[in-house]
This record gives sequence, structure tokens and C-alpha cells, in this order.
Amino acid sequence: MPATVVVGAQWGDEGKGKVVDLLAERSDVVVRFQGGNNAGHTIVTGGETYKLHVIPSGILYPGKLCIIGNGVVVDPGTLVTEIDGLEARGISLDGLRLSGNAHLIMPYHVLLDGAAEMRLGRFSIGTTRRGIGPCYQDKAARVGIRAQDLLDPSILVRKLEIALATKNELLQKLYDAEPLDPDAVAEEVLRHAERLRPFIADTSLMVNRALDAGKRVLFEGAQGTMLDLDHGTYPFVTSSNPIAGAACTGAGVGPTRIDEVLGVAKAYVTRVGEGPFPTELGDAVGRHFLERGKEYGTTTGRQRRCGWLDLVALRYAVRLSGLTRVALTKLDVLSGLDEIKVCVAYRTREGEPLEEMPHNQTVFHGCRPVYESMPGWSEDIGECRAAEELPERARDYVDRIEHELGIPISLIGIGQGREQMIDHVAA
Ligand code: GDP
Ligand code: IMO
Ligand code: MG
Repeated sequence: MPATVVVGAQWGDEGKGKVVDLLAERSDVVVRFQGGNNAGHTIVTGGETYKLHVIPSGILYPGKLCIIGNGVVVDPGTLVTEIDGLEARGISLDGLRLSGNAHLIMPYHVLLDGAAEMRLGRFSIGTTRRGIGPCYQDKAARVGIRAQDLLDPSILVRKLEIALATKNELLQKLYDAEPLDPDAVAEEVLRHAERLRPFIADTSLMVNRALDAGKRVLFEGAQGTMLDLDHGTYPFVTSSNPIAGAACTGAGVGPTRIDEVLGVAKAYVTRVGEGPFPTELGDAVGRHFLERGKEYGTTTGRQRRCGWLDLVALRYAVRLSGLTRVALTKLDVLSGLDEIKVCVAYRTREGEPLEEMPHNQTVFHGCRPVYESMPGWSEDIGECRAAEELPERARDYVDRIEHELGIPISLIGIGQGREQMIDHVAA
């Protein structure tokens, strides 16, 4: 598969980082195509844990070309911190490149994100407060600052002055907050510019040339389908498109170049932040997922909301991203449950059954899950290295999902470690 897109098929945190890290070994280039440091991708290998936010999850292999694409929003300060953190652990950053067209998250974006959330009060989205939404807003409004502006300090300072004139009014008059000092902001950004300049490149050209040369390219998504700005549970979504189509715009390649789309899904569901979640559990099973799955956010440390697998939402992800395969992660977390439920349909507030995701959010908010029940298993499966070694009931669960989605589950996650992933050939 020369060009494979990897996307989250639920509400984020499905284990994309682990899957990309695994597949990166057999790839030449890894490209992040959307989102920013709202993402947190945890990789556990050789007893070491790495938490990546904006650097592609292929960086742990020396010499791999790792591209931050034009569709990503980049906070210069946190990128420098991430680079320093990896370097300090002996990871080479030689292969890192940053698209000159990527938009930069500025200090005022972070302040405005927090201020807007405060103002919304109980209607807040529960954002990561990393400035993601305000940065994408400025991109669309054509007043953003891009990585290539770091190459020209005088233009950068001028653009910052113009932007801050408006942002400071907003901060003061709308949010009753302190204004930012333009000189201090410019000084900080210019300092980061020094570090980041060597990484800036025409990354679309690099990716297309790699594909022309028959190299294998992985496109790494952040967040998940249900957080998609267009197709997710709006307004409780992120401000970019985590579905596969965005790999093309966010990396600068044509749709004809994509060969495979791998959706990453947990064997259950989690969500961070506000918004509807039909299969959410507030009981002992929810606590089982939270504790056994260590479901605390990589970026904000927030406790993730947990629930049963939602096949309606997963079928929606297959449709929206044209998934060709699925990586099912965290199957090991289900061990020890007597009964496992899967949501196969919804029932509306009026009692009408629904097999497809309703396009009307009001209807979705009122949806209740229709479950099918399956027997659980008690065995620890972390040491299994082939599908045949899994308990029969665990295999039945995987088969049931595969049958329902109509595409193969090609990888099964059975633990945090790089080696704890089973290659599964569909029956
Ligand atoms: P991402 O944002 O999609 O990359 O996912 P996160 O890294 O935020 O969250 C997934 C968490 O689950 C991480 O801590 C991973 O190390 C962990 N993880 C991934 N796959 C598995 C698995 O198969 N089993 C277990 N137990 N943990 C896993
Ligand atoms: P990864 O890549 C899970 C959620 C936030 C919030 C909503 C909007 O690790 O899967 P934002 O800061 O993006 O404006 O917040 O989106 N969110 C995520 N949830 N995983 C993520 O990334 C997320 N990135 C954003 O919690 O509900
Ligand atoms: Mg995450």
C-alpha cells in the first residue's frame, strides 16, 4: 500500500499514534494533515512512553521523513518544546519538516479559546484550550500567520501588529481581559522562529515526489470522525476535518494518490469534552473501561467518558472516510466482563428505530442505543500473538464487528506495547 491514510473512527484517542508508529516501520514518509496540539498520541515501546502532540508518530524511527502538513495548526512554542523533549531522549529530528503553509497558533489564539469557553459557561464545548478553533478561524478569515512568515521577520512583526490591534480589542472589550504587548509577543515568536526555520519546506512537493518514486507514505490523522467539523456532533466538534478526505487538502496530494484508508477504533468508545454520546456508561462497566483502559487524556489529563462500542457511529465512519480496513485497539480492556454489549441501532425519543446516524443533531441528542449482548471472557489476552490464540469469545466479538462493518479488521490491539498488536487476516 504505497499511500495509506490513518484516521480515528470514533471521538479521538482510538490509538492512532500506536498504529501509525507500528506501520511507520514499513513506510518511508509520515505526514500529519490536520489538527494541532489538541491531539495527544501516546506510543509505548521498549518500556519507554512518548507523548506526541504535533510531530508525526513516525519520528521514533531514525531518518524517517516526518512532515507536519499545511493543514495542521502549529503552536511554535509547543513544537519547540516537543522537539527539545525528543532530542533530550536521543531521538533524531533530522527527518522533520514543517509546511510553510501551516498556520501558526499565536498566544492570542490560546487566550481567546479559553475566554470563549468561559463565556459559553455551561454551554461550553470543552475544548483543549490550545487555541485550535481561533487559529482555524483566522485561517478562514485570511488574517492568519503562517510558518513561512517565520522566514521573514519584518513581515512577521508587521502581521503580528495588525492582528494584535484587533485581538487586543476583542480581549479587552468583549472578554474583559488584559491586552497582549505586541513587542513581547513578537519577541517570543521570533525566538521560536530561529529554531523552526530549518524545518520549513515545500512539503506538498516532497510528498508528491516520494509517491512518484514509489515510496510508501502514511497520512496520520488526529482527532476522530465524530469530532469532524462538517460531519461530527456539531457544535461539539473540533475546528478541522479529521476524516480521510482532509488528508488530500491537508498534505497537498490528489485523491487519486490514496490507496488505502485505515480507520482506528477502540473495542469500546471514549469521548473527552462535552456533547452527545449515546452509549455512555455511568456504571461499574464505565469505571472498568476508565481504570483498565487508563482513560485519561494525553493532552489535558481529563478523565475520558466511556461507553459500549457504537456500530452506528462506526458504520458512519466507514462511509465518511471510505475506510478499507480497521485497526481495533484495546480489546484487552474488555477482559473480565461477563457480558459485552454492542450498539447496533438507535431509537429516537419518539421510539423510531434508526440504523444510520441521524443528520439532525436534535434527533441525535435524543437517541438511545439498541444493544445486542454477547458473552464476555475472563482471560488476559496481552500475551496473544495470533488471532487463533485469542479466547473464542474474543474472536466472536471481532468477527461480529467485522461482519457488521463489511470491511476487514486487519489489526487487533491487545496492550499498550508496540508488540501488542495482532496481524489479523479476515476470515
Ligand atoms: P490517539 O490520540 O488516537 O493516538 O490515542 P491516545 O494515545 O490519546 O490514547 C490511546 C491510549 O491507549 C494510549 O495510552 C495508548 O498507549 C493506549 N493503547 C493503544 N492501543 C492499545 C491497546 O490495544 N491496548 C491497551 N491497553 N492500550 C492501548
Ligand atoms: P487525538 O488526536 C480526543 C476534543 C476536545 C473537545 C473538542 C474540541 O488525541 O485523538 P479543540 O481543542 O479541538 O477545539 O476541542 O474536541 N478533542 C479531542 N478529543 N482526542 C483528541 O485528539 C482531541 N482533540 C480535540 O476534547 O471536545
Ligand atoms: Mg489522543
